Amino acid sequence: MHRVGIVGAGSISRIHAAAWARLPVKLAGWHDVVPEAAVAAAERWGGRAFDSLEDLLAASDIVDVCTNVTAHPEPVLAAAHAGKAIVCEKPLARTVAQCEEILAVCTERQVPLFVAHVVRFFPEFEAARRTVQAGTIGKPGMIRTVRAGGFPRMGGGAAARRYADFEQSGGVIMDVGIHDIDFHRWCMGEVERVFARGLLEAGVPQCDHALLVLRFESGAIGHIEASWAHTPGRTRTHLEIAGDQGLVAWDSRDPASLSWRTRADDMPMAQNALQEADHPYFAELAHFLDCLDKGREFRVTPHDALMAVKVSQAALRSIRTGQPVAIADFRE
Ligand SMILES: NC(=O)c1ccc[n+]([C@@H]2O[C@H](COP(=O)([O-])OP(=O)(O)OC[C@H]3O[C@@H](n4cnc5c(N)ncnc54)[C@H](O)[C@@H]3O)[C@@H](O)[C@H]2O)c1
Repeated sequence: MHRVGIVGAGSISRIHAAAWARLPVKLAGWHDVVPEAAVAAAERWGGRAFDSLEDLLAASDIVDVCTNVTAHPEPVLAAAHAGKAIVCEKPLARTVAQCEEILAVCTERQVPLFVAHVVRFFPEFEAARRTVQAGTIGKPGMIRTVRAGGFPRMGGGAAARRYADFEQSGGVIMDVGIHDIDFHRWCMGEVERVFARGLLEAGVPQCDHALLVLRFESGAIGHIEASWAHTPGRTRTHLEIAGDQGLVAWDSRDPASLSWRTRADDMPMAQNALQEADHPYFAELAHFLDCLDKGREFRVTPHDALMAVKVSQAALRSIRTGQPVAIADFRE
């Protein structure tokens, strides 16, 4: 049975731990730069608290990196050099250069790397993409998504300071918008260029709000609204993909999770698929484990994770320059 070591015992690690607890793995334990956080997590979820990353690596076959983004490269690279299979929370890293270094080491060491872009595992988003792939709405020309909630940590503390520090978090685009950048690429293919507007320069990170327009190589257009400016509580998500034969749409405020209507069939179809096994954070780790055991490619490849960071960084440059930014020749 695979032994899982979790690095970073903050908020997302608890969701991962709950999912690992329902999978056929053994939780080896936790490491955190704040030792009490690792101890508290081990008491709640099991496994040991490891004082050092090296000790955790020695006791693990899978390393699950749940640290804040600027603290991803160190444990990911250490795990890769130690030949461990890796799960890493999104974004893979804060910069494109760091992502490229990680990809190079993982390729050289032939280490499986899965970046947890969880939106690909939300049943409604997955089903919307399936609908597009099946040709139900014809040729897709436009995708629009909204991911709007409050600042992640209104209560303050170290995590809030990290999210509020643009250099550390990358603001709402790197934290929230990147989910949709990845989903848009998954549905529509490669991004040719991005144009973005945002409140980055306004100096109030807790109210960061950004709008991105993506132009895909196919000629299709994507629109992403990512916001921390709402009152705290549930994040609202909205999705529309329009094709020349119909529209697939979802809004988290609707009672029916997913509906679609086509020109061929005027009867709206609805799907509400949230069974326990469909819980996206469970589904992504179950998928990781299944692919690992069967030697299959992950739904999110390391290249996908790199491209999500690249398009995010290009969007940030667009906000700063007021110009669209081409992805193919984008360099930091
Ligand atoms: N997929 C999602 O829906 C989702 C939701 C929330 C967060 N996230 C991602 O998860 C990651 C963590 O976010 P969070 O909100 O849980 O952060 P957090 O600040 O709550 O937790 C991070 C933890 O990592 C620890 N840490 C920092 N540097 C470390 C190091 N070098 N070694 C060991 N431990 C270290 C911190 O002490 C802290 O306990 C981020 O990449 C974030 O984008 C994803």
